[in-house]
Formats: sequence, C-alpha cells, structure tokens
Amino acid sequence: MTPFHLTNKTFLVTGASSGIGRQVAIGISEMGGNVIITGRDKIRLEETFSLLKSGDNKSVSADLLDNDSLNVLADQLPALDGVVNCAGIVNPLPVKFITEKKIHETFDINYNVQVILMAQIARQKKLNKGASIVFMSSISAQHPHKGGALYAGSKAAIEAFSKVLALEFFPQKVRSNCLCAAMVKSPMYDKAEAQGTKEQMDAHVNKYPLGTGTPEDVANAAIFLLSDASKWITGTTITLDGGFLLGGL
Ligand SMILES: NC(=O)c1ccc[n+]([C@@H]2O[C@H](COP(=O)([O-])OP(=O)(O)OC[C@H]3O[C@@H](n4cnc5c(N)ncnc54)[C@H](OP(=O)(O)O)[C@@H]3O)[C@@H](O)[C@H]2O)c1
Repeated sequence: MTPFHLTNKTFLVTGASSGIGRQVAIGISEMGGNVIITGRDKIRLEETFSLLKSGDNKSVSADLLDNDSLNVLADQLPALDGVVNCAGIVNPLPVKFITEKKIHETFDINYNVQVILMAQIARQKKLNKGASIVFMSSISAQHPHKGGALYAGSKAAIEAFSKVLALEFFPQKVRSNCLCAAMVKSPMYDKAEAQGTKEQMDAHVNKYPLGTGTPEDVANAAIFLLSDASKWITGTTITLDGGFLLGGL
C-alpha cells in the first residue's frame, strides 16, 4: 500500500468548521482515515461532518478558549495518530492600538490553547507511537506586514513550540511539524479582503507566481505530514506560498 494512505488511523482536526481545517478533515477522510472534528459553529461543523466519507468519525463542537469545553474535548478523545491544529484567528492591528486584551485575543487561540491541548493529550497518553502533529504557521512569521505584530508573533511562537515538541516526543516516534502558508482563499482571506481596498489586495495577489493558495493546497501538505510518507520529517516547517517569497514580482 502507498505510504501516503491514512487507513485505520485516527486524527483530531481543530478549526474544522471552516476553511483549511474543513478541507484537512475531508482530505483525511478521503485517504481512509477516521477524524474527530472540532470547531465553534455547530452548523458549519455539521456541514463538514456531512462531507466526510463513512468511518469512525466524530464531531465535537467546542470553544477552545473555554477551559471546561477544552477538558471535555480532551477527555473524549480516543488514541490518536495525529493532530492538525487549524483553529486560529487573524486580527490585524497597528502597534499603537495593541493592549493586553488584544494580545490575549490573538495568542490565546493561536498559541496558548494549542500548547494546552497538546499538553493534555500528552498527559493522557493519547498519542499512538508514530503519531504526527501539524501546526498552522504563516509566512507572516518571517515576512512581516504592517498590523501583523500579534499574528506574526503568535505564528513564530507556535513554530518554536512545534520544534520543542519534536525534540520531546521523538522517543515515541511522534513527529511535529508546521505548515507555513501565504495567502489561502478561505473565509479568513475573505475577511482580510473586506478589510483592505481592492487595489491593495490586487497588488498583493499579483506577487504570487502560482497565484494564491486554496484550502486543498494546504490540506494536501497536511496529509503528507500525517502519513508515513513523511516519517523522516520532524521539527521542520514547510512553506506553501505559490512562489511569493521568491520576491521576483
Ligand atoms: N487563510 C490564510 O490565508 C492562512 C494563511 C496562513 C495561515 N493560516 C492559518 O491557518 C489556520 C486556518 O485558517 P483558515 O484560513 O482556515 O481560517 P478560517 O476559515 O477563519 O477558520 C478558522 C477556524 O478556527 C476556528 N476557531 C477560531 N477561534 C476558535 C475558538 N476560540 N475555539 C475553537 N475554534 C476556533 C474557527 O471556528 P468557528 O468558525 O466555528 O468559529 C474556524 O474553524 C489558522 O491558524 C490561520 O492562521 C491561514
């Protein structure tokens, strides 16, 4: 069988009610895996669930910022072959408007909750040997944009955490990696588009030799990282940017 398959494996996907997380869940299911999906919006989460192939799938709606909901989710999890952490927000804000509350808003979901969830899963010994963890970073971590202080900081932090996880978990052959995406057409992208002018957006989009990405582009890379085809890859970050960082356009 191809090492890319996910048959008989079980994965948790956060942020599965929208965009990239939804497509990761669908992709896992199409590759034969079982998936536990979570997100806040019950209706959109159920839409994702309805798009999964039949399998031992489960849907748990939870606001990960709520401690009780996070604990209920962690307690319900079966033994996992991987986790894809897609829950996240982007909250562009010029530095002069940053407050402690705003720092919490971004870091709590983009970093703190992901660390707490992984700690709980580890304490409860819910990671099978050979499991794979994937975090969603962004090119913002290395390629700053105005207003991106909190988002970029949270993504740099999660990349650092992923590397520590890779070092601490390798004795169980558990791997941890990041996907570092540029602009991906998801509801998050639509929000960014609505916040800027059409001219600003066009100018940005024209800098992508291969165009902006789709949730499928990111999901395919996540599936590679979850599968045994990537069993020699840990503690790294894969950039998905359609050539944007070449900087030639
Ligand atoms: N789109 C891009 O251009 C891009 C580029 C680089 C990296 N990324 C990263 O990729 C990840 C997914 O992005 P996306 O484009 O798919 O965004 P999206 O469509 O806005 O989806 C974000 C997901 O996060 C969930 N979420 C947010 N706050 C939550 C909370 N408190 N508790 C539980 N779930 C919560 C949302 O749930 P509900 O909708 O149910 O509230 C939703 O499922 C994010 O980490 C993002 O930073 C995106």
